[in-house]
Amino acid sequence: MSREKQKSYRFDNEYREIVRLSDKTQVTLRLVVPADKLLLARGMDNFSAESRYRRFLASKNALTDAELQYLTEVDGVHHFAIGALHGPNDGVGVARFVCFGDNRDIAEPAIAVIDRYQNKGLGKILFTRLMAAARERGIERFHGVMLASNEPMKHLLHAVGQKICFEYKGSLLEFEMPLNVRKVE
Ligand SMILES: CC(C)(COP(=O)(O)OP(=O)(O)OC[C@H]1O[C@@H](n2cnc3c(N)ncnc32)[C@H](O)[C@@H]1OP(=O)(O)O)[C@@H](O)C(=O)NCCC(=O)NCCS
Repeated sequence: MSREKQKSYRFDNEYREIVRLSDKTQVTLRLVVPADKLLLARGMDNFSAESRYRRFLASKNALTDAELQYLTEVDGVHHFAIGALHGPNDGVGVARFVCFGDNRDIAEPAIAVIDRYQNKGLGKILFTRLMAAARERGIERFHGVMLASNEPMKHLLHAVGQKICFEYKGSLLEFEMPLNVRKVE
């Protein structure tokens, strides 16, 4: 992210936030940076096969170099990623959005919390920050697709969003979530 672009954002490269999960564990939130490739690669080992399938909608054991590059070398505006760390080298969750091509009004969100940190409120915290970062970048809505059987994600979306539209498509569930952005003319 360039210095000019960073200035007006709360969620910029200087952003740090310490949050407490429901079991009192403290984790630090910060934006994902290119140097996080190893952290992300290691993080995959801490996901169950089911969590990885739910996140990538495919069986996946490891991330390729190209995927690690894509997931960490983000511009912070149209592709934004926020991570949660427990200690400096222990990535425990990450949430991101990616705009759809040239359409800067709509973005696809994705989130993953490693299994032993799930159901402690971290997903909700990360997704709330993701929505706030999207709003300050002028994104009007999230559109995504997930497994129709992904109950935790459905609960998460209901917990953080309003007026979400769901459409079942076989084993998949598409959702669209307004972010209630007020555009300044
Ligand atoms: C979806 C996911 C991010 C949720 O993260 P999390 O840290 O467990 O979520 P939270 O603890 O913040 O819980 C959020 C809400 O979901 C509910 N929830 C969490 N896990 C649940 C479960 N297994 N069953 C039912 N509800 C559940 C919580 O009670 C909470 O609702 P509440 O605020 O009304 O109590 C996590 O399960 C995950 O990483 N899954 C694998 C990857 C994935 O599915 N990503 C989404 C597709 S992109």
